[in-house]
Amino acid sequence: MSVLNLGPELAVPLDDVVGQCVAILGIRGSGKSNTAGVIFEELLAAHYPMSLVDIDGEYFGLKEKYEVLVVGGGEHADVELSMATVGEVADLSLREGVPVILDVSDMLGGEREAVVFDYLTRLWTLAGRLRSPYMIGIEECHEFIPQGVRTRMKDVIARIALRGRKRGLGAVIISQRSAKVEKDVLTQAGMLFLHRVVHEADMRVYSELLPWRKTEAKEIVTQLGVGECIFMSGSTARRIRMRVRDTFHGGYTPSFCPVESPKLRQVRGRLLEALSQVQNPVLPPAETASVRGESPRSSASDPAPEVRSWNEPIAVPPTGMAFHADDLIGPDLPEPVLVRVDRLVRRLRRLPSVQRKVVGFLVGQEPNAYTTCELAAWVDCPEILLRVEPPVDALDLGLVACERLARGITYRGMVRQYVEEAFAGFSSGLGADGTRQLVAHLRRRIADLAPIERDLAYTP
Ligand SMILES: Nc1ncnc2c1ncn2[C@@H]1O[C@H](COP(=O)(O)OP(=O)(O)OP(=O)(O)O)[C@@H](O)[C@H]1O
Ligand SMILES: [Mg+2]
Repeated sequence: MSVLNLGPELAVPLDDVVGQCVAILGIRGSGKSNTAGVIFEELLAAHYPMSLVDIDGEYFGLKEKYEVLVVGGGEHADVELSMATVGEVADLSLREGVPVILDVSDMLGGEREAVVFDYLTRLWTLAGRLRSPYMIGIEECHEFIPQGVRTRMKDVIARIALRGRKRGLGAVIISQRSAKVEKDVLTQAGMLFLHRVVHEADMRVYSELLPWRKTEAKEIVTQLGVGECIFMSGSTARRIRMRVRDTFHGGYTPSFCPVESPKLRQVRGRLLEALSQVQNPVLPPAETASVRGESPRSSASDPAPEVRSWNEPIAVPPTGMAFHADDLIGPDLPEPVLVRVDRLVRRLRRLPSVQRKVVGFLVGQEPNAYTTCELAAWVDCPEILLRVEPPVDALDLGLVACERLARGITYRGMVRQYVEEAFAGFSSGLGADGTRQLVAHLRRRIADLAPIERDLAYTP
């Protein structure tokens, strides 16, 4: 039977972690990420499929020894991530057992939340059908499952942690704010690694979890050194020392000793091939979703596609994209212009979902102007959200304009003007017809980022 060698005196049977909720808690610098890194090294060595939501970009070093796909925006990413591909990556990871590090370290709050939510939701949905062992690690999870607050993100993580076992899903949740993590999740964790804490509120949480008297627990916990913790499995608890990670720890505490850059393994052909399908799906000419008159798949709520092997072509457009004839033959525009359009579209794909929908809608409806109230109805979000988070990126780029009119603040698409300014250098080569084609092409590409289902949307 396989065991996970976690420390000099700690070997955990692999079976004990299947479908398990594992909590790693402790103050800053107490050794939590090292502990998580050791657990994931051992899981990778046992070929246990997994994903790790990496908030600070500190797990890429696992690639020193293991074939792991780093997906996201950090400097070590093998693949850039967009809202359009996030579900496909989750599918690939779960179906094919591809270990993934979801590096969201360079994403801003809203975008990060949307990406992580879509990713976890897809894993949860698909796991219901596949029912095979899979582990999900989440760093800084107090941000995602805060005590006493209900959010859609918390719902999906709590579901994985509390009810994932029957689907084979386990969770490793890591936090430096024990008192801020949802208690229901912590009390249900079957395995705990309790590193040092000092704050009274955190100590109270530990006292509730540990089978020891309060004073005894406090005395032992305050004496823990870096890398030491209380290991609790079931109802037994003991003090242990974790081993140090074999692979490079991106979150090491800096010192004056020089640190060697890790030599990272490259992902092999099989993974790259599977990935290229995620990024550039093969579109059959006749049988695509929108040609058949169906709505394109939306990210989280719709069922995932049927099981397919990793090298079978994906027969639907990526999430949120509709099919158009020039996807196959391409518009008649110069290559540098198309490259620039692609770059812009990639940038827009990384916007939070509501902002993407707003831009897509306004650009598709150009030159009509819409109040925030009308927009909220079209993109199906609370109006307050648009007031708190206006589409600043699209405004900065000049793709959208905002005016204060008698009926309120209004927004409208500005693709024509954007093209005239941003592509001014190409205008002589393009000519009038080329510019018209470019405007139409760009408008369609942007509108495709978040198609609105007209029959469902509100009519002002
Ligand atoms: N078992 C261990 N033995 C020796 N050194 C360790 C051990 N665990 C962690 N360390 C070292 O302690 C430092 C802090 O560890 P780590 O980054 O895991 O802490 P953390 O609790 O995750 O901190 P933060 O909350 O700031 O993310 C690192 O330099 C790490 O290499
Ligand atoms: Mg850490």
